[in-house]
Amino acid sequence: MAKFYIRTFGCQMNKHDSERIAGLLIDEGYSKVNAPEEANVIIFNTCCVRQHAEERLFGNVNSLKPLKKKRKDLVIAVGGCLSQNRKEELFSLLPHIDLVFGTHNIHHISKLINEIRNNKHKICEIYEESDLLPNKLPIKRESKFFAWLPVSIGCNNYCSYCIVPYVRGREISLPIGEVMEEANRFVLQGAKEITLLGQNVNSYGYDLYGESRFGALLRELDGLDGLRRIRFTTSHPKDLNDEIIWAVSECASVCKHIHLPLQAGSSKILRLMNRGYNRSKYIEIIERIRSKIPDCSITTDVMVGFPGENEADFKETLDVMETVRFDQAFMFIYSPREGTPAADLANQVSEEEKAERFKRLVALQDRITWEENKKLVGRRFEIFAEGVSKKDSTKLFGRTGTNKVVNIGAGPDKLGCFLEVEINRASKKSLIGKLL
Ligand code: SAH
Ligand code: SF4
Ligand code: F3S
Repeated sequence: MAKFYIRTFGCQMNKHDSERIAGLLIDEGYSKVNAPEEANVIIFNTCCVRQHAEERLFGNVNSLKPLKKKRKDLVIAVGGCLSQNRKEELFSLLPHIDLVFGTHNIHHISKLINEIRNNKHKICEIYEESDLLPNKLPIKRESKFFAWLPVSIGCNNYCSYCIVPYVRGREISLPIGEVMEEANRFVLQGAKEITLLGQNVNSYGYDLYGESRFGALLRELDGLDGLRRIRFTTSHPKDLNDEIIWAVSECASVCKHIHLPLQAGSSKILRLMNRGYNRSKYIEIIERIRSKIPDCSITTDVMVGFPGENEADFKETLDVMETVRFDQAFMFIYSPREGTPAADLANQVSEEEKAERFKRLVALQDRITWEENKKLVGRRFEIFAEGVSKKDSTKLFGRTGTNKVVNIGAGPDKLGCFLEVEINRASKKSLIGKLL
């Protein structure tokens, strides 16, 4: 029986694709292994959102050269966003790989691998658009309790720094009925929590219904028996309407957590980024969320060093972070992506300045995260116990609906349970609680 190993480099959508690839191969009789040395087929599912993601990939694939030399029949496949972007160029950069496939043709994976194994030649197959949505493919989920469910693929927003629309294609939504069917299937398999995925879930349905139906979709899912938690990511500020906010506020199983990428605090930079909102509009949205959902946790993505960002612009980013006080932020250094408009702008910020601003941004958010965490001491939450602590096997960790990690003293018999806890200490990264 042929064995495959898969390594994933990208976002949740990319991880989800890997689960589909695994499902497809298992259906074809392959078995999944956890070490590349044991595999007949090694698959890399790649990301190209920043230079760093690419470098990690190149390092990893290159480290397989000795193995490939020893085992001529080993098939090395590179798929995902970097492949979609670079296509056959990857063969000259990584001469020991056999297959390059893109984001729109993962359903061909086993056919392509068979062809390579039979005919001993390399293949690069890239499609420009998807003819099959992910829900039509088999799946091998990593977790029994958690499931990712893409409600849309692709992106129409063309933020000027971002490569995603070029490698993921136009936004296509799954009909509500199909989302419900898939959610139902996952719940029957034991999923307690479903995370709805899309580059911009808030515009879900535009292509099918001529308007956003994301609020309506949340309400339908809320009625699904056995589904305890619904999460979603990513929300684009320009499309976050009141209907969605009401749905989050009123639906018991929808987690009170909104991930709302800010990207930058300066209206000038936001315009150059083509984000479709400015600083005051963003702050107004936050106020709208907090007035309807007082305890909602709000997290964000933010970057420093977009071309033309000066010290005053950067201070506006710090200022918004200080005003909004995000529960958590994913912070990035702007990385020029060839083919995007921002990469061609003349006034790129120097690496030193970017690094210096990044340090200041991280220091500010670390302080805010810690301060916000400390405010939770004494509060009670329901957590879903998802794992045993790596440092201490007598402890479990789980997440609150607001997506905070809580460590508690409890045995493995409590794994997979929803538990009532009280927070008694806060650290910078997580919370420590006791079982009630
Ligand atoms: N669709 C999602 C995010 C996709 S990429 C959204 O719009 O929020 C995840 C994050 O990576 C982005 O929010 C952004 O902060 C960051 N990112 C995207 N392109 C980048 C680039 N060229 N350099 C640095 N960070 C980038
Ligand atoms: Fe990229 Fe913008 Fe689309 Fe997000 S919304 S994937 S940042 S283009
Ligand atoms: Fe995700 Fe990276 Fe592609 S962030 S969509 S895997 S470029």
